[in-house]
Amino acid sequence: MTITLALLPLPDSAEPSNFLTLGREVKDVHPGNCTPEQLEDIKQALYQHEILLFRDVVLTPEQQLSLTKAFDPDSEIYGHGAKLETETSSILHSALHAIPRVPQVQLIGNGLIHNHEGLSNARLNHSTHKTFHKTVVSLEDEAKGFTRFYRWHIDAALYDLSPPKVTTLYAVRVPKGPNQTCRYDDGTGDELDVPLATTAFVSGQTMFQQLPPELKSVAVRTKVKYAPHPYVWMAPARAKPTGLGIESDDLESPFDQLPPWVEDKIKIHPMLWQNPVTRLLSFQVHPCCATELIISPLPINTARERALYPDGAHIDDLKEVRNLLYRMQRPAIAPNLVYPHKWDEKDLILFHNRGVLHTVVGTLRPDQVRVYHQCNLAASEDPTGPTSEDIIQWA
Ligand SMILES: [Fe+2]
Repeated sequence: MTITLALLPLPDSAEPSNFLTLGREVKDVHPGNCTPEQLEDIKQALYQHEILLFRDVVLTPEQQLSLTKAFDPDSEIYGHGAKLETETSSILHSALHAIPRVPQVQLIGNGLIHNHEGLSNARLNHSTHKTFHKTVVSLEDEAKGFTRFYRWHIDAALYDLSPPKVTTLYAVRVPKGPNQTCRYDDGTGDELDVPLATTAFVSGQTMFQQLPPELKSVAVRTKVKYAPHPYVWMAPARAKPTGLGIESDDLESPFDQLPPWVEDKIKIHPMLWQNPVTRLLSFQVHPCCATELIISPLPINTARERALYPDGAHIDDLKEVRNLLYRMQRPAIAPNLVYPHKWDEKDLILFHNRGVLHTVVGTLRPDQVRVYHQCNLAASEDPTGPTSEDIIQWA
């Protein structure tokens, strides 16, 4: 091994036994200027640990693109495609600004930015639950420092393009301020102390592993069908207070009112994605964009007692789809399973987008400037699902 790895600094809220493999800091190597051997070790470490942190890095957008591309040399365009800037009806439109000379690298954050990497002026808006959730934290509670997760997700267009393998996130400017308290507001009383404007991560492997056997069996047998142009489709809808999926109030745009789409480009992915190095399975579902669940029957000779959907099922009732996904995903965002990163300027995080879910958190005032460079690339291939051995083992 040509690189040095150290444990991530876990907050008091995190249960260390849940973070034995998740997340590492990489020391003594510049990720934008490393040897082929170091790069190979970084790739292996990323797939082993899902989240890698590099501190005190000076990184150009060109270096960031080249590092991101190294994980998938045949990938070329930004993960949400090249036309996001013109897709004004997408819920992502206002959050992303392409850097002109390297459009695969997006400027995200908060506040007014001048003369930054070729952008003369940009108004960045921190994605806050107040623009997305059905209910919001009151102004009074917000003043006391309460906030919410914004939207748990995978970085992926989920229409036409394949989900990026890796996302790189580089902190140029980090807002200063006291920690906030992220409330789940789902009747559990759960809450989490978070650094201001943190990015929070959870493990997809843990999301699968913590399921009871009957839901593991469902997970290993299920494929998830996504909406056409899912971010346009979902834009009028409003999310649950945990940011983990949408409330079913029939607010989504009807399919016939979306931009033109074809059935061939609709994405159907396995519910579980295989890690290319460890072969372990991660529960990788974007709950806001899913529309249908296609569940295969139990394999022959598998015990049917207590099995759910033993003969398979095709669930296309949106409320039922969301209820089942929430039941499967919610346990894995429990406070002690979340890694909320405390950002410093010049931190670079690489995460395995096919092995974690993440969300931005918190509320910022317009004068709290936050500047990040984010890059991910539509992958050259779709994720791999469970093997036949996995299905026999878990069904
Ligand atoms: Fe993201």
